[in-house]
Amino acid sequence: MAAVGFTINGKAANVEAEPDTPLLWVVREHLKLTGTKFGCGSGLCGACTVHIDGKAVRSCQISLSKVQGRKVTTIEGLSPNGSHPLQKAWVAEQVPQCGYCQSGQIMQAAELLARNKKPSRDDIVRHMDGNICRCGTYPRIVRAIERAAREG
Ligand code: FES
Ligand code: FES
Repeated sequence: MAAVGFTINGKAANVEAEPDTPLLWVVREHLKLTGTKFGCGSGLCGACTVHIDGKAVRSCQISLSKVQGRKVTTIEGLSPNGSHPLQKAWVAEQVPQCGYCQSGQIMQAAELLARNKKPSRDDIVRHMDGNICRCGTYPRIVRAIERAAREG
């Protein structure tokens, strides 16, 4: 066991756990931030996507020891009150079906819009390619990202 200090959604956190504990479990079990989901546990689906220092990563594949001193953002920290342009666009386009993959989708999309305010449709499709949605909400995801880019 080791204590690892990092920032989570703008607040300091200090978590004591085995250094190889996946960040996903640290976020869900230790910090009780359950918006980030477990899908495959193997880096294949994107349900567990969070940001580390602004970069979208799969939290099931990152060990606790790797986040020492870094800034982690989960869906709960994307905006203080759910008013990120992507969150508004997601509501407007009624994107979710079962909802399970959606926080990962939004975190993946947020990384794109943070560095490219006006992505083309191709940019969007390429960037979102690895995030799986069993319900097939892909067309609405693309529409919502286009709307967020337009209205954001
Ligand atoms: S749960 Fe992490 S990529 Fe699927
Ligand atoms: S909305 Fe059900 S898996 Fe994406």
